[in-house]
Amino acid sequence: MAEAARAELPADKAERYGALRQEIAAVIAGEPNRTARYATAASLLAQAFPERFFWTGFYVVDETKPTELVVGPYQGTLGCLRIPFGKGVCGAAAAQRQTIIVADVHAFPGHIACDSRSNSEIVTPVFDKSGGLAAVLDVDSTQFAAFDAIDKAGLEAICGDLLTVD
Ligand code: SME
Repeated sequence: MAEAARAELPADKAERYGALRQEIAAVIAGEPNRTARYATAASLLAQAFPERFFWTGFYVVDETKPTELVVGPYQGTLGCLRIPFGKGVCGAAAAQRQTIIVADVHAFPGHIACDSRSNSEIVTPVFDKSGGLAAVLDVDSTQFAAFDAIDKAGLEAICGDLLTVD
């Protein structure tokens, strides 16, 4: 994702997340299909932060294997297809049902290196309406320590909206 960030978005990171959240919500309003909703979020997020977001996408809980994630809509280089709960950063976030920020993925036990250029990562869970885990949103960066509490708050807010069908 080498293109420049969209110039019309606010420069301040928290404000940019706020604008993105509204934009994503507007595009997916009334669209119940999960793939359409996740693909919209992946595209708009990746384009909003092209300098930091090297891989942006979803790993979805497999309907036939409830403790395994399978790749969903994403933007970036080729991703691994399947991740068991508990394995790597995505699997840890799925098992713990909470956001995990990793400043140096090479120091994370069991990290799955889909692309060796990734150096830091944030993974945020997406829940369904009954509180079950539906997916995780995984963002990887070529920068070390690319993600902070503002990213966590912004991504959690967007993930919270993703399964709200209007
Ligand atoms: N880095 C992830 C695996 C997924 S990809 O990098 C796209 C992890 O350890 O969970």
